Amino acid sequence: MSSSEPSFLELVASLDITSLHPGGRKATKELLDRLGIVADDYVLDVGCGTARDLVELVQSKRCSAVGIDRSEKMVEMAQNRIKKQNLQDRITVLKGDAQNLPFINSNFDVVYIQSVLLQVDKSRVVKELARVLKAGGRYGSLEFAWSDEPDKPLMQRIMELTGEPFVPLRHEEWKSTFEAAGLNEYYSFFTKKAVVPYPLSEIVATEGLLNTLKGVLKFATLPLATRNRVRYQTRYMRWIKENGKLGYAIYCYRK
Ligand SMILES: C[S@@+](CC[C@H](N)C(=O)[O-])C[C@H]1O[C@@H](n2cnc3c(N)ncnc32)[C@H](O)[C@@H]1O
Repeated sequence: MSSSEPSFLELVASLDITSLHPGGRKATKELLDRLGIVADDYVLDVGCGTARDLVELVQSKRCSAVGIDRSEKMVEMAQNRIKKQNLQDRITVLKGDAQNLPFINSNFDVVYIQSVLLQVDKSRVVKELARVLKAGGRYGSLEFAWSDEPDKPLMQRIMELTGEPFVPLRHEEWKSTFEAAGLNEYYSFFTKKAVVPYPLSEIVATEGLLNTLKGVLKFATLPLATRNRVRYQTRYMRWIKENGKLGYAIYCYRK
C-alpha cells in the first residue's frame, strides 16, 4: 500500500456510518455523560478521527474543544465536518502526535481518548494527556480490553491484516496505566462483549436509514480493488467477535 493510499481506518471513516471504536455511539455517550461536560469546559479529543463524536459533543454541550489526530486524511475529514456544521469558532482540529502534544501544561478541563491507546506507547501518551489536563480536570478513555490473558496470535493476525498496531490491555492493566500517570479513578465499566462488527440493523438504528444508504453508496463508488481490500480487512472484526476474549472498557479519572 503506498503512503498516499488511505489506510483501512481512513477508508471506513470516510463512509461515515460507523464508530471507529468498540461500543459505538452508546459507549461514547456513556463516557461523555460520565465526564460531566458543561458549556464552560475546554475539551481535548486525542486521536479524534473525523471528529464525529467531538462535533456532537460541542453541539449538545456548547463547550469549546480541540481535536488532534496524526492522520492528515482524518484531520481533513474532521475540518470539513466542522465547517459544514459551522462550528469553526468552537472546534479546532490539528494534525499532531498524541506523544508530543502542542499544548502547555494544565490547559484543558477535560481530555478524552477513544480506541487510540492500543496503537501507541500507552504509558507515555497517558502521561502526556495528564500533563495537559488541569488539576481537578476529568480524563476519559474508551478502549478494547481483554477479559483474560491476551491472545497474542489474534493480535498478530489483526496487525498483519490492518497494518495498524493493535495491543489492548487487560482491564486491571489499563487502570494501573492511568494510576501510574497520577490519575484517580471515579468510574469504570468493563464488558466482555466488544459489540463489533456492528450489524447492519444497528447501523440503521443509530445512523438512520438515509445516512446508511449514503455510506453504502459511497462504498459502492470506491474502486473495486479498494472495496475488496476493505472487505478483506473487515475480517478482523469478525475475529474479535468469534474469539470472545476481547471486550471493551470505559474509564473516568480525575487529576
Ligand atoms: C481507531 S481510530 C479512533 C478514532 C476516534 N477516536 C473514534 O473513536 O472515532 C484511531 C485514531 O487514532 C489516530 N492516532 C493513532 N495514533 C495516533 C497518535 N500517535 N497521535 C494522534 N493520533 C493518533 C488515528 O489516526 C485514528 O484516527
